[in-house]
Amino acid sequence: MIRNIVQVGDPVLRKICSPVEKFDEALGALLDDMKETLRREEGAGLAAPQVGVPIRAVVVDVEEGFFEFVNPKFVWQKGEQTGPEGCLSVKGKAGDVRRPNKVKIIFQDRKGDRYSLVARDFFARAICHELDHLDGILYTDKARNVRDVED
Ligand code: CO
Repeated sequence: MIRNIVQVGDPVLRKICSPVEKFDEALGALLDDMKETLRREEGAGLAAPQVGVPIRAVVVDVEEGFFEFVNPKFVWQKGEQTGPEGCLSVKGKAGDVRRPNKVKIIFQDRKGDRYSLVARDFFARAICHELDHLDGILYTDKARNVRDVED
């Protein structure tokens, strides 16, 4: 099911999201809906608070594949890259953000099983952007020269 993506100004985007504790059918349904919604919008990532659910779950869709990260945490962040970002909750804008170039995260899947993953370049950028959402941070808080773009 396609979910409505909340836009900047909605307080849910500024919440510190709660850890996921129940790995139940509702979580699976939410993640399925987030995937469908992300695919429809042709975005690189979507965090649960962006569909109005302030829990620590994100989906990322990049060259390396489609990923679901539940309760993700950084293990380390290395290097630096600066590049353009947009956000499905900040329509019609883009801005340049400095991010680490390589990150390692630990996370759980929808069943609660634990994994770790190393990502670099755009994949690392997407992870950083989505994990910021879980702490109520938008890329526009960090970006230089936020500008209008065509959707
Ligand atoms: Co975003």
